[in-house]
Amino acid sequence: MPSISWPDWRKVEPPEEIQGLVSRVQPKLNAIPAPVLALSAFALGSLTTVSGTLVYRRYFRRLKNGDWVTPNVFTRKGWVKGRVTSVGDSDNFRFYHTPGFGWNWPLKFRIIPSTAKDLKDKTLHIRVAGVDAPEAAHFGRPSQPYSEESLAWLREKILGKTVYCQLLRRDQYSRIVSNVTLAPRFLPGSWVAGKSLSLEMLRAGWVTTYQQAGAEYGKEGLDEFLRVEDEAKAAHRGMWMHGTTAESPSEYKRRHAQAESSDTKVVDKRAKTPPPKAPAPSNAKTPVASNGKTGWFGKLFSK
Ligand SMILES: *[C@@H]1O[C@H](CO)[C@@H](O)[C@H](O)[C@H]1NC(C)=O
Repeated sequence: MPSISWPDWRKVEPPEEIQGLVSRVQPKLNAIPAPVLALSAFALGSLTTVSGTLVYRRYFRRLKNGDWVTPNVFTRKGWVKGRVTSVGDSDNFRFYHTPGFGWNWPLKFRIIPSTAKDLKDKTLHIRVAGVDAPEAAHFGRPSQPYSEESLAWLREKILGKTVYCQLLRRDQYSRIVSNVTLAPRFLPGSWVAGKSLSLEMLRAGWVTTYQQAGAEYGKEGLDEFLRVEDEAKAAHRGMWMHGTTAESPSEYKRRHAQAESSDTKVVDKRAKTPPPKAPAPSNAKTPVASNGKTGWFGKLFSK
């Protein structure tokens, strides 16, 4: 085997240009008074710390809960990545922010808590922008038709999954109204915009377009939201499976709010005018039961 002889690096002199540079710079460095040198070192150190902090805040700091979402975050309209840890109603959910890396294989050294107790105060309460879902039973009001199915659909779609949220504003219930997209938003080497959750829900027929002042529809705009909703109605998807006679979530809220303020008995207008026979799915044998529980569809999803 031929033996390799390595040069002795200690004997290798730096090239001439470097030597020249050093000899030229050294006297200048020596001429700088020590306090100035110390001050510049301090300034450089501070600059590094400040920029380091900014980078950390922007990319690595976990937004532990709603209190961590400062007005600054909203102005920036930045995106945050995280896991859906629970789905409460069908237009809002709990989000565990997972910034930086280390949350997924093959580089997994950070763990998302899994029990409600451990998750307490560690998630953001996200409200999906631009849509309104049928209400579950709350505040003594009965649940709206299809609220269970809508919730089941959303759970299936996002629970335990990674989603991206663009934090837009805080609503009157301290929830963070967000533009939510489903992963993947990035693929190696290319930019792939994930699907908008609002539009996916509308398309599936489980929500209506939220049309209150201040609602966000992004660059797609209100027209696109309404178009997708109409398409779902026309195709009898989701809550439109028996036609469009169902009360919309906003009508429902208005009716209950009015009834509660005038303290009269809540009248379900649909009870008086039974929906016309709409072309039901072929395998839907049992109609909607009178006790408010839905038929085969509800059973399919109920726990
Ligand atoms: C959400 O983000 C997507 C992608 O940037 C954008 O197309 C859409 O308009 C945004 N929607 C809202 C409601 O801001």
